[in-house]
Amino acid sequence: MNKKCVGIIGLGSYVPQRIMTNKELEQRMDTSDQWIVERTGIHERRVAAENESTSDLATKAAQKALEDAKLSAAEIDLIIVATASPDMVFPATACVVQENIKAVNAAAFDISAVCSGFLYALITGSQFIKAGMYRKVLVIGAETLSRFTDWSDRNTGMLFGDGAGAAVLGETPEGYGILGVDLGADGGGAELLKIPAGGSRHPATNETILQKQHFIHMNGNEVFKFAVKVMGETTLKALKNANLTASDITYLVPHQANIRIIQSAAKRLGMPMEKVVVNINKYGNTSAASIPIALDEAVKSGTIKSGDIVALAGFGGGLTWASSIMKWCK
Ligand code: UT7
Repeated sequence: MNKKCVGIIGLGSYVPQRIMTNKELEQRMDTSDQWIVERTGIHERRVAAENESTSDLATKAAQKALEDAKLSAAEIDLIIVATASPDMVFPATACVVQENIKAVNAAAFDISAVCSGFLYALITGSQFIKAGMYRKVLVIGAETLSRFTDWSDRNTGMLFGDGAGAAVLGETPEGYGILGVDLGADGGGAELLKIPAGGSRHPATNETILQKQHFIHMNGNEVFKFAVKVMGETTLKALKNANLTASDITYLVPHQANIRIIQSAAKRLGMPMEKVVVNINKYGNTSAASIPIALDEAVKSGTIKSGDIVALAGFGGGLTWASSIMKWCK
C-alpha cells in the first residue's frame, strides 16, 4: 500500500481591483441591495478589467502560491487549471499560465467541473503525487464569469464575481495533508446550470447572440435544493473515508454560492457558523475560485493553523460535487 501523504504546501489568491456593489446592480436590473443581501449574503463582487482574462488572474494567484511554497516555477511538474470561463475554447488556460510563469518543466491541462472544479483539480493533482509520477503540482481555480453574466438577468446577475486561487501540492509529513475525499456527478442535472451556446451543440451565430445564449442560464431553485442536500452529504462521505466525524472538523471552507446554502450545510453537519469560513459578502460566487480564495484568506489571517482539520466542500454545474478533508500542515 502506498502511504505517501499529500497536501497543500503553498497558497495564493488574487481578485481584480474593480468592486461592483449591489447598489450598482440596482441600476441594471429589477433588484435591491436588501433582497440580494438577505437572499444570498452578497454585498459586492469583483469584476476583471477589460484587459484581464482568466489566465491573468490565475497567473497572479499562482505566483503568490509559489512564493508561499518557496518554490521556483521550474520545480512544478504539472499545472491544472479548473475553470468554467477559460481564455479560449482551446488551448487550455493552464498552458497560458505555464508560459506566463515559465513553468518550463510542467505538463498542463484544464478541468471543467464548474464550481466543484478546484476540488476536482486538487484531488486529481494529488493522485499524480501519490502514484509517484510527479512531486509538485500547481492547482488553480480561476474565473472571469463576469464575461458570461447577463447583468440584466435577476436569476443570475447578482450572484457571480471574478477571482483566482492557487495551491501548490506536495508531499507532507505523515498524518498531514489530504485524509479523505469524495467526488461525484449527476449528468441528469446538466440542464440546470449552463452556458448553452459557443460549443459544438450550438455554435455561435447571430441568433445565439441575440437570444443571450452565451450567458449563464440557471434554474436557481433546483440548484439550491440540490446544493443544500449534497453539501452535507459529500462532506460526510469524505469524513467517513478519513475515519473522522463532523465533530472533528476545526474549519469548514465551503463553496461560496449563497449564505443560506452554507448555513444549511453547517446545520446538517452540526457545526456552529464560527467554524465556517465565509467571504461571500465580499466576492459573491467566484465558482472554481471560491474555495481556494476563502482558504487562502483563512490561512493568511491566522484563522486556520497547523494541525487543524479542514473540510473543503463544493458543488456546481454538471451537476458535480466534491469534498476533501485535510490535516493542515503549514
Ligand atoms: O455555484 C452554483 C451556482 N448557483 C447557485 O448556487 C444558485 C442556487 N440558488 C440560489 O442561490 C437562489 O435560488 C437564488 C439566489 C438564485 C434565488 O433565490 P430564491 O430565494 O430561490 O428566490 P426565488 O427565485 O424563489 O424568488 C423569490 C422571490 C420572488 O418574488 P415573489 O414571487 O416571492 O414575489 C422573485 O421574483 O424573489 C424575487 N426575486 C428577486 N428579487 C429581487 C428573484 N430574484 C430576485 C432578484 N432581486 N435578483
